[in-house]
Amino acid sequence: MPTSTTPTSPTKPEPTPSAPRSQNELWMEKAKAHLLQNYKQQPIVLVRGKGSRVWDADGREYLDLLGGIATCALGHCHPEVVAAVKAQVDTLWHVSNVFYSEPQIELAAQLTALSGLPRAFFCNSGAEANEALLKLARKVMKDRGTPERFEIITFENSFHGRTLATVTATGQPKYQKGFEPLPAGFVHVPYGDLEAVRKAVGPSTAAILVEPIQGEGGVRVAPQGFLKALRELCDEHGLLLLVDEVQTGMGRTGKLFGFQHEGIQPDGISLAKSLGNGLPIGAMLCSEAAGKSLPSGTHGSTFGGNLVTAAAANVVVRYVRDPQMLREIQEKGEHFIARARELQARLPTLIKDVRGRGLLLGIELQQEAAPVIARCREQGLLVNTAGEKTVRFAPAYTVTREELEEGLRILERVLTPV
Ligand SMILES: Cc1ncc(COP(=O)(O)O)c(C=O)c1O
Repeated sequence: MPTSTTPTSPTKPEPTPSAPRSQNELWMEKAKAHLLQNYKQQPIVLVRGKGSRVWDADGREYLDLLGGIATCALGHCHPEVVAAVKAQVDTLWHVSNVFYSEPQIELAAQLTALSGLPRAFFCNSGAEANEALLKLARKVMKDRGTPERFEIITFENSFHGRTLATVTATGQPKYQKGFEPLPAGFVHVPYGDLEAVRKAVGPSTAAILVEPIQGEGGVRVAPQGFLKALRELCDEHGLLLLVDEVQTGMGRTGKLFGFQHEGIQPDGISLAKSLGNGLPIGAMLCSEAAGKSLPSGTHGSTFGGNLVTAAAANVVVRYVRDPQMLREIQEKGEHFIARARELQARLPTLIKDVRGRGLLLGIELQQEAAPVIARCREQGLLVNTAGEKTVRFAPAYTVTREELEEGLRILERVLTPV
């Protein structure tokens, strides 16, 4: 991990004598020449981080309230995560799932106990965790002798990933455009509309896949009781209830898992993002009965649950299972929402809504969020969009109230007309 603001790569770009440029510019020029241009990246190159602060290649400091998109749960370079990763790297990195490994077994034991879902499968990302859920649903129905049940009901405005199956599960046509023909078997209904779900259930339905909060879709919290009603509907029709906890899991909403706000037990959940504090690890957890449908040979991943990522995740789990940590996440979120609503009261023509739970927070503007986010960055605050008009905050759980207020002050400065 970089420890200075100076890039150390042997292929560090050299400034041409005629045009002295910043390190950020030099790196970005190289990026534009070689990277697939599939992201709308902010024009800075980040080289170092500590807690909720990061520094760019020119040494400029930023307050990071995005946290690697809801990922660096304990902050950048948390000393215990660093120590666990270093110790693991010094010991053994990777053996594949041909063999057992201690950090992965320990992680599975922790996550299954905490979620009430006794079977764990590890992968490397949120999309893969959801892919495992989708395959699980189809296979369970085949094994039950109802192969005609293959359809998954998901929600408009949802986000489940970028693989062909998960982008089809995603209820946003803009992500699907150009990749047709899409895989069969997905039905989208309005989020929070129980009647619409009820109508969509038919003889082909296998499962319902739902986010407790639509993160990418604009930080939209499911109406109270929605997940519980979905659970009842699934029980009534013999369907699987699958909860996408990629963004909401691992304490993000102030409970370990988003579904726990409704006291229900899903048949399967997906995890990623905060699980590895920024290292790439995902997980699919499921019930004993469902898990029997993915026996040896039916699914797998070479890197999934790798020793280093699992070692990092074990530290995250140790922190977020602490009720005090969960209370703090909840209280910091409430503090942010109260302050953001005060800001909304001062700027009612600029701010439309303040939403979220725990440290997954959104401020919906009356205008496009992208230009505001660019100005925030220029003022030293890193956030991003969720949907077209919402500014998303998904900071580390270790963020302070002062840092949250600092972020809101920067946003106010950026929004306030001169
Ligand atoms: C709810 C949800 N599911 C799935 C994904 C996909 O995760 P990944 O980008 O790790 O594949 C995301 C990513 O933003 C997400 O927010």
